[in-house]
Amino acid sequence: MQKNRDQKHWETVAHSYNAFWRSKAKQELSKKELNFINSFLNKTKGRYILDIGVGSGRIIDNYLKESSAKEIYGVDWAKSMVEFCRNRFKNDRRVRSIKVCNISSEKLPFNQKFDFISAIRVLKYNSNWQAIIGNYINKLTDNGVFVFTMPNKNSFLRFTKPETSIYSTTRTELERTVRKQKGEIIKITSFMKLPDVFYDISDNSFYVSTLLQFEKILRNIFGETFLSRIFFISIKPRL
Ligand SMILES: C[S@@+](CC[C@H](N)C(=O)[O-])C[C@H]1O[C@@H](n2cnc3c(N)ncnc32)[C@H](O)[C@@H]1O
Repeated sequence: MQKNRDQKHWETVAHSYNAFWRSKAKQELSKKELNFINSFLNKTKGRYILDIGVGSGRIIDNYLKESSAKEIYGVDWAKSMVEFCRNRFKNDRRVRSIKVCNISSEKLPFNQKFDFISAIRVLKYNSNWQAIIGNYINKLTDNGVFVFTMPNKNSFLRFTKPETSIYSTTRTELERTVRKQKGEIIKITSFMKLPDVFYDISDNSFYVSTLLQFEKILRNIFGETFLSRIFFISIKPRL
C-alpha cells in the first residue's frame, strides 16, 4: 500500500517523539491529559484496552502504571513507532499485541470489542476523522468508553507551521458528529489555550507556575473550551 506524506513523517520520528514531552510545562500538560483519560478508564471494566496511534508509548505506559488492564492492544501506521513500542514493552505480558495499521483505511487487526479505546493527538492527521469515530464506537463493549482529541478550529493562532496536514473542528461540529455516529458525549474539555511554544520554553518551576496561572485566568474568563487549542472528548455508544 502506498504511504502518504504524513505517514512517512511519523516513520522518521519514533526515537525523537518523546522529546516533544521533555519540558517541565509539557510534563504538567501530559499529567492533565493522562488524568482525564484515567478518570474515564476507571469508570469502565478496563480489562481490554486499545490505544490507537501508540507513538512512543506515552499512553500505553500510563495504562501499565495506572490500570488493572488484562490485555492492552495498540496500533500505529508507522512501523518504526510499532517497533519502538514493542521493544519498550517487551517485558510486560499485559501488552498483548501492537500492530501496524492505518485506521483511516484499514480494518483493525484485532477482532474483539474493547472496554476502553484511546486516540490521543491522532485523529487530526486523518481527513476521514468523523467516520473513524463511528468505526471505533462500534468496537466498544456496551459500557465502553472512547477518549480522543481533536484540535479546535477557533483557537488562538499558532506560531509554528505544522509539519503535516492537520484537520480541526469546532465544538458544535464535534457534538453533531458524535450524535451522527451513534455515540453520546460524556465530557468535552481542554487543558490549554496558549500555543505549544510557551510549553516548550517553560522548563523551570517559576515559568511553569506562571504559565499555568495564566492558563487558569484564561479559563476563568473564557470557560473550559472556548478558544482552547485541543478538545479532549470522552464518548460512549448510544444504546
Ligand atoms: C502525535 S503522535 C501521538 C502519540 C500518542 N498517542 C501520544 O499521545 O503520546 C500521533 C501518532 O498517531 C499515529 N497516526 C496518525 N494517523 C494514524 C492512522 N491513520 N493510523 C494509525 N496511526 C496513526 C502517528 O504515526 C503517531 O505515532
